Amino acid sequence: MLKNSKILVCDDDETLCYLLKEQLLEEGYSVDTVYDGSFAIDAIKRKNFDLLLLDLNMHDVQGEDVLKFVKDYNPSMQVVILTAQSEVRSAIECIKMGAYDFITKPYNFDELLLTIDRALEHKELIVKTNLLADQVDKKISTRIIGNSRELQRVISLANKSAMSDSNILIEGETGTGKELMAEYIHKHSSRKDMPFVVINCASLPDQLIESELFGHEKGAFTDAKNTKQGLVEIAHGGTLFLDEIGELSLALQPKLLRFLENGEYRRIGGITNLTSNVRVVGATNRNLLEEADNKNFRRDLLFRLNVITLTIPPLRDRKEDILLLTSHFLETKSPIRAPKHLSPEAEKSLLNYDFPGNIRELEHIIERALIFAENEFIEPVDLNLPTEVPKNMVRKAMAEYTEDNVVLSMDEIEKKYIAKALRINDWDRKETAKQLGISPKTLYTKIKKYAIKQG
Ligand SMILES: Nc1ncnc2c1ncn2[C@@H]1O[C@H](COP(=O)(O)OP(=O)(O)OP(=O)(O)O)[C@@H](O)[C@H]1O
Ligand SMILES: [Mg+2]
Repeated sequence: MLKNSKILVCDDDETLCYLLKEQLLEEGYSVDTVYDGSFAIDAIKRKNFDLLLLDLNMHDVQGEDVLKFVKDYNPSMQVVILTAQSEVRSAIECIKMGAYDFITKPYNFDELLLTIDRALEHKELIVKTNLLADQVDKKISTRIIGNSRELQRVISLANKSAMSDSNILIEGETGTGKELMAEYIHKHSSRKDMPFVVINCASLPDQLIESELFGHEKGAFTDAKNTKQGLVEIAHGGTLFLDEIGELSLALQPKLLRFLENGEYRRIGGITNLTSNVRVVGATNRNLLEEADNKNFRRDLLFRLNVITLTIPPLRDRKEDILLLTSHFLETKSPIRAPKHLSPEAEKSLLNYDFPGNIRELEHIIERALIFAENEFIEPVDLNLPTEVPKNMVRKAMAEYTEDNVVLSMDEIEKKYIAKALRINDWDRKETAKQLGISPKTLYTKIKKYAIKQG
């Protein structure tokens, strides 16, 4: 691969150019030669070379000027300086200006070859790194799509709150974009160059959450082989996103409260109080005021958190956003360059659908449709929307959940229903969550909450 690389040789010594070209061609490189700096610049404008072998002293335009041009015009192109023993000093100057290396004339071809190979590898690395950086940039560009008045109102509130340093609570059903909003707030705050750290309070058992959040000292518990920094420490100066904060246990809530009050915390097993400066953004799909009434969530913690509350409306309450989001996903999720389109019928069925899983569900529907649609237009069948449940099935289901005319509570029904869905899917949680239109995390939380056991 490196052997196909395109090399430009620029030296006013025509014999040297000729000889070098022959040698390099033999090694499998593609080689052009020019005898002056001005021609080198012309050549570089016309063709994308990987590497330039550059003499310093030429008649017209000097090597250093060519180097300057290259670093400006095509920075990933590598430059190796060919120099006489007497000019080593200028060669070193060139390296400071961005040349990869220099070789003194008369050159040793093996040595030159080695330098060329290394320079080309270096170039490949640079190109790859730039590519990755681009991808990362794209990934973290937090664009919140949606023109509906309902969403725009939340965004404008988010913009205002981003500037403040208050804690924020983001409410919304599953998949409405709570995490995206939290990231958006972080990126628009003065903390944007510091870390944005995420922890999901529902995903781990109590002790692990505590050690994730606040860290632990060596030997604090059996598995604590080393001291570990907590996420509050890692997020110092930045934003800490506490996802599904409603799931935080009553045992941990006072510790978080204390941290919110004065930035103080203690590692597990630690004896000193540490402090860290983070802004906390919490997210929940529960009604925390109700949870507080039911004594599942401390009221004082809630009031520390919801200095500002942002409520993201479900997709079914802002239907104007559906097609906009659809185009966005058609573009970003398309594996090929030419994105597919929705047929008018498919548009209609999306507009009529309720999206219990909100934007995440729409995202999955489109991802899937892009794979399955055979033509340029996506048809309703490609969307594979869950159909409305026929009336007699509802009656059957109702019968199942009302025993001898005793009505079960919603919680009991939910528990039974989730257990059944898990059974049907052989406990494949991902698939079950998808069918239920909730996130795997939410499913996990509910399994925990209702203590649903396999088998
Ligand atoms: N307005 C939006 N514009 C573009 N993408 C969005 C928008 N809202 C949500 N998404 C995308 O939908 C997906 C779900 O969003 P996110 O994870 O932020 O939701 P969530 O509310 O945190 O869900 P959960 O409650 O399940 O954790 C993500 O891929 C996110 O990028
Ligand atoms: Mg989330």
